Amino acid sequence: MKYHEQHAIVTGGSSGIGKATARLLAQQGANITLIARDRLKLAAAKQEIEQVTAKTQRIITVAADVALKQEITEAIELAIFQLGTPSILIASAGIAIPNYFEELPLETHETSMAVNYFGSLYSIKAVLPTMERQGRGSIILISSGAGLIGIYGYSAYCPSKFAIRGLGETLRAELKPKGIQVSVVYPPDTDTPQLAAENKTKPPETKLITQTAATWTAEEVATKIVRGIELGRGAATPGWTMSMLYRFHSLVAPLLNWYFDRAIASLNRKH
Ligand SMILES: NC(=O)c1ccc[n+]([C@@H]2O[C@H](COP(=O)([O-])OP(=O)(O)OC[C@H]3O[C@@H](n4cnc5c(N)ncnc54)[C@H](OP(=O)(O)O)[C@@H]3O)[C@@H](O)[C@H]2O)c1
Repeated sequence: MKYHEQHAIVTGGSSGIGKATARLLAQQGANITLIARDRLKLAAAKQEIEQVTAKTQRIITVAADVALKQEITEAIELAIFQLGTPSILIASAGIAIPNYFEELPLETHETSMAVNYFGSLYSIKAVLPTMERQGRGSIILISSGAGLIGIYGYSAYCPSKFAIRGLGETLRAELKPKGIQVSVVYPPDTDTPQLAAENKTKPPETKLITQTAATWTAEEVATKIVRGIELGRGAATPGWTMSMLYRFHSLVAPLLNWYFDRAIASLNRKH
């Protein structure tokens, strides 16, 4: 039981990648705090995780919006009060709303940054003082392939995931001497409710260029996240495509752009 009696806080823990990661950590002995907005989804996730854990383990839920500084700060303070200093923060709460730039209202850009970027930042700020006192901890931020290259139709999402990368890489260096590991995860397309929702507003051009990559399960991505914590690396890149993109994105971007531009031009000709 690698995480016996350790406390893991998982934002976005009621669904998808966050829930699968919480479940995996719980199976390895961790006490878990799940944070998200919808209380019913939180209760269902708690029940699901409790089915694979020992009776002595504690799984708690706190309803909060990560985009609201005071709400998420108080939620994390409550979690720490109940289950003690966290050794792991998984900041998985996120939204993705693809569409043509001209179709996306400014509010979508603002909300995407508020949830994906500032939600992660506020969560880190709230756990950091106790992790620093403890002299150890792991902070895992969830970016995306869309945090490495700009993708057609993702003008609200990509910038928020690029920002997470910038924050994670900076904090990795600053917090390492304090015994705190910071890692950024770059999941490929993953079969979750978010992806299903995205598919409803994805322009056909975006569908065309994203359908080339294989879709992962949330459990597969969670396994890579937990493995990343154990290895203590600054980045986790599930799969060959993400690994290559992470290492060589600036080099391959011109080639990818050429390929995607041609595919989009051909789609436009057909219509
Ligand atoms: N699925 C993919 O293909 C994919 C690929 C790359 C990266 N990612 C990233 O992975 C992370 C998890 O995504 P997922 O696919 O697992 O999505 P998901 O299944 O839709 O789960 C998203 C979670 O975030 C919570 N959430 C959303 N907005 C929130 C807010 N304002 N405050 C608190 N919690 C909030 C949701 O619960 P409530 O709605 O109840 O709050 C839910 O628990 C996201 O950051 C996403 O961008 C996903």
